[in-house]
Amino acid sequence: MRPQYHYAAAANWLSDPNGLVYHQGIWHLFYQYNPLGEDWGHMSWGHAISHDLAEWQEQPVAIAEDAQHMIFSGAAIADPGGAAGFGRDALIALYTASAAHGPAHQSQALAWSTDQGQTWQRYAGNPVIDRGLADFRDPNLFWHGPTGRWIMVVALSAENRALIYASSDLKQWDELSVIHGAGAPGRVWECPLLIELPVEGTDETRWLFKVDVLHDGPGAGAIYQTGTFDGIRFQPDGPALDPIWQVADHGRDFYAAVAWHEPRDNQRRPVWIGWMGNHAYQGQLPQQGWRGAMSVPRRLSLGRSPQGFWLRQEPEPAAIAGVHAVQIGTTDIGQAARLEITHPADFSMTIEDCDGRLLEVVRQSNRLAVARRDPGSPFLDAQCTAPIAAGEPVCLWLDCGSLEIVSNDGRTALTLQHRLSGDVLSVHYEQAAEIPAFL
Ligand code: FRU
Repeated sequence: MRPQYHYAAAANWLSDPNGLVYHQGIWHLFYQYNPLGEDWGHMSWGHAISHDLAEWQEQPVAIAEDAQHMIFSGAAIADPGGAAGFGRDALIALYTASAAHGPAHQSQALAWSTDQGQTWQRYAGNPVIDRGLADFRDPNLFWHGPTGRWIMVVALSAENRALIYASSDLKQWDELSVIHGAGAPGRVWECPLLIELPVEGTDETRWLFKVDVLHDGPGAGAIYQTGTFDGIRFQPDGPALDPIWQVADHGRDFYAAVAWHEPRDNQRRPVWIGWMGNHAYQGQLPQQGWRGAMSVPRRLSLGRSPQGFWLRQEPEPAAIAGVHAVQIGTTDIGQAARLEITHPADFSMTIEDCDGRLLEVVRQSNRLAVARRDPGSPFLDAQCTAPIAAGEPVCLWLDCGSLEIVSNDGRTALTLQHRLSGDVLSVHYEQAAEIPAFL
């Protein structure tokens, strides 16, 4: 059994999406990948391509580790004018070179490709940014039109801070400013993202800063702030000393999400994708031939309420177009289905396999509670809760290996891996449920 509408590599460990770039009609998805096995290690960039964000074709490993470095997370962009000196329309990747031996050391390095990302050359002048640090990783890039240069945001992971740099040739980088983690929950920052998003129902835009916290974070670890960016500094919304942090996903398995900054849809929304995994237990998952999958790509925008801005995520329509919708009340379903509860009453829904693995989803008033039970792998047992407006429809996207819930007008997302197996899963739905004591 394999995921039916989520990307997973044919075999081996897969984690963070990397190098998301749209180039010559193709969506490129690079990702953290171990070409040699199902455990984290030998980190290299795997590669898949798509014409429509729905069907993905796995490609040969794009950037493999070498004797000195593992190839950690990073970004890629197209360089239409050849500003970096590697030819017009070259693809340029900026990744973290993480020392494979000796003392921990992370720096930012450049690689380039002139054959649509199939083969990559390392830049002879690497590293392009080196602060002599052990924890300095995960550059993300975008072109900033108003100032006419590329911007990089990169994490000072151990300090819970991020740095913003700018460059006009992708090789020489100037430090511009710091994003402070004031008031941020959790620790060890990874995979920062700074992106301009449309504000729904207006012509305005606002900036989103997202970062993942590896330890002690809420939900799946992805937290965000909204604010402004003037080409130099990100200014978060809310009180300066106590800015507001919100949770991007209330499950356990949505991490390291980054975006294709371009192109956008007709509502000016970019699309992002996250790793449906969790470093806390991913390595303990029983072998299943592949380990780790990507979320459904999600379109991003901001909603506005009197309390401020909030992130709205909507599954990319093309990616879910073929998913079979199941009527509520059906008791047996296959591995992949969409279940939508539009009735405003409180409810409880249980999805089970023959081995006692189950997912229980309960809506009570303005709370959504989800439990995951796995008798064979008790480390997977989890209870998650998320706020939701009373009576809002709840949409469940079930696939082999995962459950993604999007509800509350895209304001609440909750992603969980699971190991429910068998051709048929049983579903029990009941109205006016009570949240079980364990939730
Ligand atoms: C996040 C992360 C990144 C790092 C990569 C290594 O999942 O820890 O910070 O670059 O994975 O695989």
